[in-house]
Amino acid sequence: MNSLVEKIKELKKEKNAVILAHCYQNVEIDEVADFVGDSLYLSRKAKETDADIIVFAGVSFMAETAKLLSPNKKVLLPRLEAGCFMANMINIDQLREFKSLHPNVPAVCYVNSTAAIKAECEVCCTSSNALNVVKNLGVSEVLFLPDTYLGKWVESKLDGVKVTTYNGFCPTHLRVTPEDMDKAREEYPNAKILAHPECHMKVSEKADYVGSTKEIMEYVAKSDEKEFVICTEKGVLDRLQRDYKDKTFYLLKDSLVCSNMKWNTLDDIYNALLREEHEIVLDETVSQKAMACINKMFEITRPVLAR
Ligand code: 13P
Ligand code: SF4
Repeated sequence: MNSLVEKIKELKKEKNAVILAHCYQNVEIDEVADFVGDSLYLSRKAKETDADIIVFAGVSFMAETAKLLSPNKKVLLPRLEAGCFMANMINIDQLREFKSLHPNVPAVCYVNSTAAIKAECEVCCTSSNALNVVKNLGVSEVLFLPDTYLGKWVESKLDGVKVTTYNGFCPTHLRVTPEDMDKAREEYPNAKILAHPECHMKVSEKADYVGSTKEIMEYVAKSDEKEFVICTEKGVLDRLQRDYKDKTFYLLKDSLVCSNMKWNTLDDIYNALLREEHEIVLDETVSQKAMACINKMFEITRPVLAR
């Protein structure tokens, strides 16, 4: 076995650390990860863990979310450069201006946002629970930020809820065009086309299935189909190809790579854990408010138990 992998595993044991990896990470990171999944799944794992240290192989908003959910734990981001283009598209002044244009309308923020932004929003959501969060708020209008496309997709699925969106977007997912989808249909007529809701609405409308990264992987796991076109980050394709040797996968286009997600390497994980460096530290007041925003997401999406 790779000796670096062995060394990371030993360090994890020694320091009572857990490694959470997003499915857009370089695929070799899965060898040392305790949990691999999408942002909702990893948030749950960050909340539940009794480890002393969480190494978050992902981007900064994900590590911040882990810190908010496990404030007494040390949370490390292997590479501090790993930000998110979409999360950086809105700052506090822009948020306040957006809210002031729509007074008294609750603001729903996508988890792809900084802690400071979450602190000034009503409730958070991820791509896998955005529909439920907005539906369960029980209001006729919401503001949605920063991703305009996830917001529009939610609106298209809910009857009678107006979703006013901020103009942020994911540059990676916006590389998918409706023309690419038509071409893929022609080239792979037997394939199911699976897309992430951060894609343009015209793309989502043409897809056979729209879901978060983990939902896309679950769709494949349950499907009897043999061919799939993947319209999300390449990490999903890499894991599907690794796990389902009897199925064929095509990445819609080669440029579906998030450069931020690819910063972290096994070396970075080893160094961060060894030196306990790149720790996430958040302002106390911001944390309290941002935590309330995230906790509300868990509260309003909690399954109702049968009596
Ligand atoms: P998921 O919620 O599917 O993990 O997506 C996070 C993300 O950054 C997608 O670009
Ligand atoms: Fe952010 Fe897009 Fe990268 Fe996701 S894929 S982390 S939304 S830049």
